[in-house]
Amino acid sequence: MSQIDHPNFGKMDENRVIIFDTTLRDGEQSPGFSMNIEEKLRMAEMLAELGVDVLEAGFPAASPGDFEAVSRIAKAAKGPVITGLARAAANDITRAGEAIRAAERKRIHTFISTSPLHMKYKLRMEPETVLEHVTSSVTLARQFTDDVEWSAEDGTRTDIEFLCRCVEAAIKAGATTINIPDTVGYAVPEDMARIFSTVRARVPGAERVIFSSHCHNDLGLAVANTLAALHAGARQVECTINGIGERAGNAALEEVVMAIRTRPDANPYHHGIETTRILRTSKLLATVTGFDVQPNKAIVGRNAFAHESGIHQDGMLKNAATYEIMTPESVGWQKTALVMGKHSGRAAFRDKLNALGYGDLGDNALNDAFRRFKDLADRKKLVYDDDIVALVDDEVVRGHQRIKFISLEVWAGSKDKPRALLELEVDGTPATADARGDGPVDAAFNAVRAIFPHTAELRLFSVGAVTEGTDAQARCTVRLEEEGKSVDGQGADTDTIVAAVRAYVHALNKLVTKRARTAPASLSA
Ligand code: KIV
Ligand code: ZN
Repeated sequence: MSQIDHPNFGKMDENRVIIFDTTLRDGEQSPGFSMNIEEKLRMAEMLAELGVDVLEAGFPAASPGDFEAVSRIAKAAKGPVITGLARAAANDITRAGEAIRAAERKRIHTFISTSPLHMKYKLRMEPETVLEHVTSSVTLARQFTDDVEWSAEDGTRTDIEFLCRCVEAAIKAGATTINIPDTVGYAVPEDMARIFSTVRARVPGAERVIFSSHCHNDLGLAVANTLAALHAGARQVECTINGIGERAGNAALEEVVMAIRTRPDANPYHHGIETTRILRTSKLLATVTGFDVQPNKAIVGRNAFAHESGIHQDGMLKNAATYEIMTPESVGWQKTALVMGKHSGRAAFRDKLNALGYGDLGDNALNDAFRRFKDLADRKKLVYDDDIVALVDDEVVRGHQRIKFISLEVWAGSKDKPRALLELEVDGTPATADARGDGPVDAAFNAVRAIFPHTAELRLFSVGAVTEGTDAQARCTVRLEEEGKSVDGQGADTDTIVAAVRAYVHALNKLVTKRARTAPASLSA
């Protein structure tokens, strides 16, 4: 029988796994994946609906923008425990404590490196000093909340004796969750089993706390290592949607959760994730960050449930279980094709949004989305669910931007130099530009530069299709770089040049937000 009486989760059932989502912290920290506050709020709302138990909303001491994002999520998000990350320093912990103050249920997550390599070269601290920091950081964090998580950064490359001493100090100081991260993705499942079993067996008080795994994917083993930690007694897993995160990413939430659900014989645990919402959450993240998952990505990739070969198709027709270990519907894939057309009204559109899992969008966002839907339905014969999702997500993440796209006309072809006539709205004031360029996209981007001059350089421009066919919406990504900082913007439209300009404007808005922030602190303590 479990002896854990957790400040936020109460008496813990011994096979209940806490799902700790760090998409908005570890995920957002990786190059190209930064999100603005509105995007983070929308993702937080979606993660709460997905049913994550703990939501790591950011690193409040990193910048005023990060602080604001964590505090606004703490106020708005209903359901999950909201946590903010903090190094073992008084300012970090105080900022985290202030940022999460308004949350219904809150946690501070504090960490320090414990491996010989990190202590010597990164921290330049003696092990005894690190131990003192463990005690002082957890003690201070407890002044803000009873729910404190302590992490041993580079834990899997830490001397096991020293790791046990650190964990003991953290528990004595009041930590309620102990996280042992595989920070550099170096461990193999056998290491995870050994480390978690040893620490749990040796450290006094281990039976009163929850152990947690946080695995990076440098060797492609993050999910396997996470499951190995569960087998060795961990009951919290830290993961991200689509597996995003530093370098090769973190353990993918959807993979861990479905491994538990699909193989209860091998993984006899349970969790609170509403698995049918997985695909929506994955797609929103792709829209917000501009990075689609690869087609063969487990669970959420376009091909994850596609059966191409004749032999497989034949088997599927006879009995789906021949080649499908879980149903596509169980993770949110739907068989629906054509959804609506140009004669569909507002009420039908609202119903469709509800069926697609959008709560109340609010009248303004609904009106704007409906207007764009009508416009799309005029230009595109078949409007699919994915079209509506792309359009609404696009609208939701752009609601509060300084620079808004209004209209674009382009003249291109093989004779004259392409020309673009663009109308934007900057801080509520309409502005137009007439520009030429080496191609229609270049002309349109020159028009953006004429309306809103900036020095940022274009580093990436990519185009993908939301659905199939020549009338499919194009989804474009634009990466801009200014003074070493890069931002990505996304845009979708049936007209590829319009999608490109929407993406450019989105990136520009992110850049403007980023400029307003002070330089973020590095995660290196
Ligand atoms: O990978 C890591 O060690 C981390 C910690 C800050 C938990 O992200
Ligand atoms: Zn990490």
